[in-house]
Amino acid sequence: MPYVYDGRTLIDYAFKGGFAMPAFNVGTLEMARACVEAAELERAPIILQTSPGELTQASPAVLAGMIRALAEEVAVPVMLHLDHGEGPERVAACLRAGYSSVMYDGDHLKPEENIATTRRLAEWAHGSGVSLEAAAGSFGAGEGRGEGLHLTDPEIALRLLDDGGADMVACSVGSVHGQASRLDLDRLGAIARRTRKPLVLHGGTGIPAEDLAVATTLGVVKVNIGAGLQRAVLKAWRERSEAEGVYEVSDAARAALVEVACGKIRIMKAAGRA
Ligand code: 13P
Repeated sequence: MPYVYDGRTLIDYAFKGGFAMPAFNVGTLEMARACVEAAELERAPIILQTSPGELTQASPAVLAGMIRALAEEVAVPVMLHLDHGEGPERVAACLRAGYSSVMYDGDHLKPEENIATTRRLAEWAHGSGVSLEAAAGSFGAGEGRGEGLHLTDPEIALRLLDDGGADMVACSVGSVHGQASRLDLDRLGAIARRTRKPLVLHGGTGIPAEDLAVATTLGVVKVNIGAGLQRAVLKAWRERSEAEGVYEVSDAARAALVEVACGKIRIMKAAGRA
């Protein structure tokens, strides 16, 4: 199985099944391998994704080749997604590289402009046989734009799905990139009732388990996890002695990553769904 060429199949499966998949931000072999190992251990479908930050480490073609090869060695479905695609050029590069899904993040634009560009890029994505995530809100820290949260208006979320043709929409309901947060579950519920389509949360590292448990009952199918993985790698590297070789330290980092990833898979009820 295992590499999922069309992200829509997995998104639809999670939406109907009432669970969410962690979307792990990975930019190195160590990180990607650990998340795939965790998915295998938990028998879970997962998403690996690259934001512009991860794409400083290698091109979309290199990362896609590596992730596809890792996926082909396991029995669980692995999908590859572009996180926070800034515009047509980045989206096109990832479509050419064989990603299963792309995000167009046009939340900094006026809603009409965001919807129009989303529609154009959704046509490209669907023409390539993959899914598109739209952005109806922003998630503060770490997005590099120096702004705070822009919370999601349920009407805009609906329009990005209906008029923009998106397959899922990222909703800002309190979670923040890289920080502890609580979800505004009333707002998430209002968005879920209005859209009745797959929803995405960013800033997943700091969302408490009890909020995620409710979110999975409200149509959330994808929760982005970035900072938690980076912290696990940095801690492992800092704690190891200088006398150790690079591969021993890398193995220790991978073990720490597997533990983090397994925890997130279980919280989102993705374990056993492969
Ligand atoms: P965290 O770094 O808070 O887990 O968020 C990741 C994310 O949302 C990437 O888009």
